[in-house]
Amino acid sequence: MKFDRPAEANASDRLLVLGQPHSRVEGRLKTTGAAPYAYERQDVAEGQLYGYPLGAAISRGRILSMDTEAATAAPGVRAVVTTLDMDPLPKDSHNVNRLFGGADVEHYHQAIAVVVADTFEQARSATNLIKVEYHAEQATLDLSEVTPPETEPAADTGDFDTAFANAPVTLDEIYTTPAQTHAMMEPHASVAEWKDGKLTVWTSSQMIKWWRDALAKTLSLDVEDVRVESPYIGGGFGGKLFLRADAVLAALGSKATGRPVKLALPRPLMTNNTTHRAQTIQRIRLAADNDGKLIALGHDNLSNTPPGGDGEDATSQSLSFYGAPNMRIVNRVAEMKMPESNSMRAPGDAAGLMTLEIAMDEMAERLGMDPVEFRALNDTQVVPSNPKQKFSHRNFVDCLRHGAKEFGWTNPAPASRREGHWLIGQGMAGAYRGSPASTSGARVRLQADGRVIVETDMTDIGTGSYTILAQTAAEMMGLPIEKVEVRLGDSRYPVSSGSGGQFGAASSTAGLYAACVALRAQIAERLQADAATLDFRDGEVHDGTRSVSLASLASDGELVAEDKIEFGEFRSKEYELATFAAHFVETAVNAYTGEVRLRRMLAVCDAGRILNPITARSQVIGGMTMAVGAALMEHLEVDSGRAFFANHDLASYEVPVHLDIPEQTVIFMQQDDPYSTPLKAKGVGELGVCGVAAAVANAVYNATGVRVRDYPITLDRYLDRLPEV
Ligand code: MOS
Repeated sequence: MKFDRPAEANASDRLLVLGQPHSRVEGRLKTTGAAPYAYERQDVAEGQLYGYPLGAAISRGRILSMDTEAATAAPGVRAVVTTLDMDPLPKDSHNVNRLFGGADVEHYHQAIAVVVADTFEQARSATNLIKVEYHAEQATLDLSEVTPPETEPAADTGDFDTAFANAPVTLDEIYTTPAQTHAMMEPHASVAEWKDGKLTVWTSSQMIKWWRDALAKTLSLDVEDVRVESPYIGGGFGGKLFLRADAVLAALGSKATGRPVKLALPRPLMTNNTTHRAQTIQRIRLAADNDGKLIALGHDNLSNTPPGGDGEDATSQSLSFYGAPNMRIVNRVAEMKMPESNSMRAPGDAAGLMTLEIAMDEMAERLGMDPVEFRALNDTQVVPSNPKQKFSHRNFVDCLRHGAKEFGWTNPAPASRREGHWLIGQGMAGAYRGSPASTSGARVRLQADGRVIVETDMTDIGTGSYTILAQTAAEMMGLPIEKVEVRLGDSRYPVSSGSGGQFGAASSTAGLYAACVALRAQIAERLQADAATLDFRDGEVHDGTRSVSLASLASDGELVAEDKIEFGEFRSKEYELATFAAHFVETAVNAYTGEVRLRRMLAVCDAGRILNPITARSQVIGGMTMAVGAALMEHLEVDSGRAFFANHDLASYEVPVHLDIPEQTVIFMQQDDPYSTPLKAKGVGELGVCGVAAAVANAVYNATGVRVRDYPITLDRYLDRLPEV
């Protein structure tokens, strides 16, 4: 099915099942421990051995020799495979750093060996017996010492320099955001079986097709000989978009032993072995007239990547969010050999809104305006960097106004409220995140017992895909949700969008819609009726004169239909599709110790039709929680001399826990967007992390009167500047 014009009224609009607050259909499996995650796949291959990886102990250089004699002779060891045993493995286009093979070391904890043994403990202890001789080269990882590369602006409209120089009110500040790691609960883990020239990998992947292609390329196999299965995923956040070393090492271990091998990246190896969000240094310049209308907006970002990568484009939202006639947006990427910076939840916008939304707060104060009103005044219904392009739908101003009312926004003066030992502050911020969609396929099978089975290689990375897909099929076929079984994450199923970039929910439900339309057409043909006149309801199909049960239609054998949704150019060419939010936060900062406590958080989201208010809310509060981490605690500590991240475990990389998180309220502005998909839905999973950190930062400022422009806002950055007590 081609989606080449805005959706009209269709069978998904009844909202008997879709749009309803259904609990997760796989919730019981997860809460009882019965959902099979990759490392627990005892069920899939007989005689599994354990693999354990060795990571490089230098950041850059060469391996001179590896002595594996003691490791090979250790109890229970079946194989030792080292990077010197093979040439560098071919790199898939999605990978920036290579994953294994050859003597060169490109980054700290790069995988350089795998030991396979009968037990986990044997494999781990033998790995420690491998002696490696390195030639280490000087490596650096200090972004502040890099000369920013000359780069063409992504937008250069009007006359920025003149407009900025002549404006009555201006701001010109530098902000920084640190490197961050995904810290998902489930580590990267795989069971691999290499048998008769065919490879099967049970793993933890956001993108089945990308992994299948990457495994074939990396291990020089035909794609048809590679199978990937990943039905349950304990978080990804972008860290599991691309093939990683766990799957490659498990496969090489299996090839060497002729047995299936399971391997997980140990937590302390994950940060430097896999990918992270790059740190950024951002210069923001704003200029406004005395009424608060923006005249000029400049955003200059610097981040870093290994050669061939993209870094963190913190300017992306600035092209679209606030209107200004003179804009200069520049994204500079410095190449540095180091662990791979890559996608992490809302790549670009998450880091960009952390700073832009502080700058907007500072500018409102310089103008003497309420920050809510300042943002509302500078709303735009056309894309500022490309005014020919309209937003398909943009309700940001309503988010702001509704949020201010619900929250009880009073715009208090900085450092003006105190309760006992606590300085109380309110902060707010806006949020923007694009809403892309990509081709997605699905198969539906009507069974003789009246059930419908859905098959697609879509993944559920903890987001609720199982549930919204079950709701989609139930809605389309007129069934209760219990009559739908959803099967995901298997390369034998039709290729879907996968989970990433906030496109998964919108794309995969649209693909399933297409498959259901195909099944409805098949049923119409059987009944010699016009598909448009059929009414699917309560497990039956009605055509005005007769009613036939769905079960009876499959009594001679299941009915199978497959299709995919493909999105036409109109969607991205004529319109920009995006989601918007307003965030409000109340903080208490201890007047003596400076510690920050959040008191309450509110998000008001404009994100199209909400397919399931429970799973959507969970996405948003998860994002808000992650953003509290970004605001107050999360930062990878760079050892710039040795070029690695020093705090590479969960003891030293702090993330929020339950006690850090206050009451969170999420309000959805229910509004269908027919330009998005046949279901008029958009993504929401990345919107939730956008803007929130700045709302926290602005609330800390409002409580204390102390402005911090470097994240995270830790005590050392403001304790000596707190008001006298
Ligand atoms: Mo996302 S950072 O594309 O999983």
